Amino acid sequence: MNEYFINNATDTIPSNNTTNVIRNSKAIDYHRSLSVYQSTPLVSLNGLARKYNVGNIFVKDESYRFGLNAFKGLGASYAIHKILQDNPDITTFCTATDGNHGRAVAWASRLAGKKVVVFVPKDTVESRIKAIESEGAVVINTDLHYDETCEIARATSLKEGWQLVQDTAWKDYEEIPALIKAGYQTHFQELEPEIHSLPNPKIDLVFLQAGVGSWAASAIWYYLNRYGKNRPKIVVVEPNEAAGILASFEAGKRVSPDGTFKTIMAGLNCGIPSSSSWDIIKSGTDITIKIKDEFAEQAIRELYYPNGDDQRIVAGESGVGGLAGFIALMTNPDMQILRDTLGITTHTNVLFYNTEGATDPINFNKIISSKP
Ligand SMILES: Cc1ncc(COP(=O)(O)O)c(C=O)c1O
Repeated sequence: MNEYFINNATDTIPSNNTTNVIRNSKAIDYHRSLSVYQSTPLVSLNGLARKYNVGNIFVKDESYRFGLNAFKGLGASYAIHKILQDNPDITTFCTATDGNHGRAVAWASRLAGKKVVVFVPKDTVESRIKAIESEGAVVINTDLHYDETCEIARATSLKEGWQLVQDTAWKDYEEIPALIKAGYQTHFQELEPEIHSLPNPKIDLVFLQAGVGSWAASAIWYYLNRYGKNRPKIVVVEPNEAAGILASFEAGKRVSPDGTFKTIMAGLNCGIPSSSSWDIIKSGTDITIKIKDEFAEQAIRELYYPNGDDQRIVAGESGVGGLAGFIALMTNPDMQILRDTLGITTHTNVLFYNTEGATDPINFNKIISSKP
């Protein structure tokens, strides 16, 4: 597999049930009704921008979201709210997760007074399991990869009469993943007034880290819907060893990637892309790249040890995926073609989303104490 793929985006939102659900939802109204709701900060990193020779760099810091240390509560809470509107008698929710989504489902279930069972794949670190348990969930380690863990969650839910709340879609399971994508719209919409209050309110380039691609698809839907052909350029970033979207672009259809599925970017360590995300991703991605873990480590240090007057940001291994992709793309001499394709200049404004804080504190401390 190559390290990147340059896509000829159609810039046309596919018309289907998923995109209809996103269009017809107003998740931000629901989120604003929660007592814990607050818009997450948008941080401007001029020092980092100078270092990489671009106009400015902005980071929306989702580590502050709902006190959950990651953005995933946006999707789970909205989906569970909508599911319970139609079916209030559900007693138990279930999901498979590499950490953040499971904590979010457990948190939203607890708020709704429901039980929850969370299946985690092998290599899920203790701190992430503890965070899910702290929300009252029963956690079961399958000792399998992510895709197989999703299958176990699906089959067990069916057998036990539990309600599955999965953030990836497959044939005949697209409604709930669509609600989750609709829930993610909140933070893209929050950004609008924040960006419009900037002296130069234009974002030229957005980097999106991807696991199954639900979040990237939600972002792409937002940018296509809001800005059409004037949308920012979009780069999708995946771990080297779990690059299902890149593999799918290369194959011309949704496939599982080759790879060891060994990466510190646990939230992005997924197999086949979500069925209902793939068409949206294809329609609005300019470039997709895969990166080695070293770039995630470097990105964590860039945010933790600020440049100039920049503010410190504490970001986790998956949270920095976008910035890690940017660093790879800006520093690799073989990627000049990507910089040219994206038209990156000293005036380009770049946006990243820090989608998680330090959810594995042991590894985080190791990374910030080691020099490259
Ligand atoms: C921190 C973080 N960022 C990004 C993602 C990617 O989301 P998706 O799996 O929808 O691509 C995840 C998924 O778990 C995550 O935990």
